Amino acid sequence: MVDSRPSDAFDTFSVPDKGGAKPKPVVALLCGGNSSEREVSLASAANVEQVLGRAGYQVIKIDTATPRLFKQISHAHADVAFIALHGEGGEDGCIQGALELMGLPYTGSGVLASALAMDKYRAKIIYTSAGLNTPQSVYISAAGKDVPNRAGTDPEQIISKIGLPCVVKPTAAGSSVGITIVRDPERLPQALDDAFLQGSDVLIESYIAGTEITVPVLGGKNPKVLPTIEIIPKNEFYDYASKYDEGGSRHIVPARISRDAVAAASSAALLAHEALGCWGVSRTDMIVDADDCVWVIETNTIPGMTATSLLPDAAGFIGIDNQQLYELFIQWAFEAAEKRTATEGA
Ligand SMILES: Nc1ncnc2c1ncn2[C@@H]1O[C@H](COP(=O)(O)OP(=O)(O)O)[C@@H](O)[C@H]1O
Ligand SMILES: [Mg+2]
Repeated sequence: MVDSRPSDAFDTFSVPDKGGAKPKPVVALLCGGNSSEREVSLASAANVEQVLGRAGYQVIKIDTATPRLFKQISHAHADVAFIALHGEGGEDGCIQGALELMGLPYTGSGVLASALAMDKYRAKIIYTSAGLNTPQSVYISAAGKDVPNRAGTDPEQIISKIGLPCVVKPTAAGSSVGITIVRDPERLPQALDDAFLQGSDVLIESYIAGTEITVPVLGGKNPKVLPTIEIIPKNEFYDYASKYDEGGSRHIVPARISRDAVAAASSAALLAHEALGCWGVSRTDMIVDADDCVWVIETNTIPGMTATSLLPDAAGFIGIDNQQLYELFIQWAFEAAEKRTATEGA
């Protein structure tokens, strides 16, 4: 559910001509996959397929969980891949690398930015080095790597470093899968087990109380910041049900935070986008605390495109509808591919 009012305060994009006579590229719509966000991806893809199909595009939907995936992609004879995948395999640089080797332009960020943003621990290292404010954390790698901030799994040791409440999360999952807010020390071991079910690496962060916001950034060479969205989840935090159930949360555009906080959040989102090296789109989740301090939580390189998703709300606020949004993604996919070709030829 979104509460918003139109605004002309934001720069907008020169959007592709909807009725244009130019032949439309054939789109391979990559979706599904094997991540914990498979169902979300299928919902995003259903929306993209409907919007682009209605606009006259030939859309060939391919579930990346299929055997002989690359044969299917090449048999589609598509001009561009629209990646509607979330999480492992789709948002972490894997499919992006494969598509580059296949020479097929694709939507969104490249290999490195995708991989960095997907890893919440390494993304925080980038944020900190870029001067962004992110909650204090410890990192536990089951692989036993010796990295800064590495903690043992001893709950007392973790609590003495981070305090309570804390947030336990898998480093490389999304949609709040495997995340627990721990207020009672006795809950910590179970929270760690739940997070480790999603992967070998876990992050434990200080809990930031405040207003939850998210800020999308759109664009290729000259990315622009979209309006700040305030999220009011029905549950204790923005968990899976709050994200995807109809009425699970309210989205308010623009967010009801101070002008200073909006300015800080907007520049943080742009800096996160640029420091990670994102392309086309990103959406950075943040929390504004009682002192008006903006904390960067994470950056999503393939934000949800479902009926309850946040990005379409912010784009709609500045007059970009879903068709225009997805056509811009495709336009920037071709620009990124041109850029890669130019670099290869240099
Ligand atoms: N440090 C934190 N303090 C308070 N709430 C948090 C914190 N980290 C995460 N959350 C809550 O958990 C949700 C999901 O966390 P996030 O890191 O964005 O992971 P995901 O990739 O699953 O969206 C956030 O939207 C927020 O509601
Ligand atoms: Mg998030």
